[in-house]
Amino acid sequence: HPRVLSGMQPSADSLHLGNYLGALTNWVESQNDFDNFFFIPDMHAITVPQDPESLRERTRVTAAQFIAGGIDPERATLFVQSHVPEHAQLAWIMICLTGMGEAERMTQFKDKSAKGGAESSSVGLLAYPMLMAADILLYQPHLIPVGDDQRQHVELARNLAQRFNHRYGETFIVPQGFYPKTGARIYDLQNPTVKMSKSAESPNGLISILEEPKKTAKKIRSAVTDNGTDVRFDQQEKPGVSNLLSIFSAVTGRSIPELEEAYVGKMYGHLKVDVADAVVERLSPIRERALELLDDKAELDRILAIGAQKAREVAAPVLADVYEKVGFLPAS
Ligand code: TYM
Repeated sequence: HPRVLSGMQPSADSLHLGNYLGALTNWVESQNDFDNFFFIPDMHAITVPQDPESLRERTRVTAAQFIAGGIDPERATLFVQSHVPEHAQLAWIMICLTGMGEAERMTQFKDKSAKGGAESSSVGLLAYPMLMAADILLYQPHLIPVGDDQRQHVELARNLAQRFNHRYGETFIVPQGFYPKTGARIYDLQNPTVKMSKSAESPNGLISILEEPKKTAKKIRSAVTDNGTDVRFDQQEKPGVSNLLSIFSAVTGRSIPELEEAYVGKMYGHLKVDVADAVVERLSPIRERALELLDDKAELDRILAIGAQKAREVAAPVLADVYEKVGFLPAS
């Protein structure tokens, strides 16, 4: 089976609707046709300051949401990045293959370092995409299902794979990004021209998987739209309505034109109520299941330990081959 790999950071108390529609739903679908590796990049999370106890807890909470959202740990390899030391080891080699200018051109690095002041951001933030390249290349995957905001990072991983192969001989599969047709970019409900993210300016712009369904419905019903009246997908003129249509389409599987057709002559309020209902219906069972799973932390930890073992079986020989090719003297 061709292989799929992807990851999601444990950097908040809950995943959000963008994580779910942009990535997790695609992961769940790919389980039938691919050999899947899904992991929690806790090492990426510490590129910005984290409270240690929350990081540990958020790592479990993220794992619980993967499983509740439909990842079957019997079929997919589900693991935590820091449990597999090969990620850090290959990351160093990727760092040494990357040009300084190339790293500094990454838009996510530019955005994040600009926010905190370039002086105060860590070297880890700059090296983040090289760690991500290592995450990917260690497993020789063919497809990387991610949202739109990870495009540039996936491109870098492809470039680094090609560069390594060229310099040291054929080693890595050059993987492809896989971006969903609807849901690749979910926007903030209060500020529909910026992507939905955990660092939202207003908490009302962000839908968290683990929040009370009532809260979710209320946030959608009070989403920012525009002064017009027709329900039409138009990213430029109607970013708020377009975002609601994208969410609705991703959650129900109905196409955007079909939805536009269904809302001819209806008001925004009507659309909002229906989107709220559809999202709540989809998220509620996931929330409940995740909370149940979190009641048995020992069981979650056991699942993650098995995943780490399976992951290492794939990653270790790839790293050994890389070490040999770059000219490291074998330890024994
Ligand atoms: P992260 O943790 O920020 O996001 C996890 C996934 O959610 C997607 N996503 C969105 N999709 C649609 N609309 C949004 N508003 C939205 N916000 C987030 C992201 O595109 C992503 O697919 N660097 C990665 C984690 C990572 C990784 C990897 C991914 C580390 N190593 C290797 C793939 C392969 C990140 O920070 O994603």
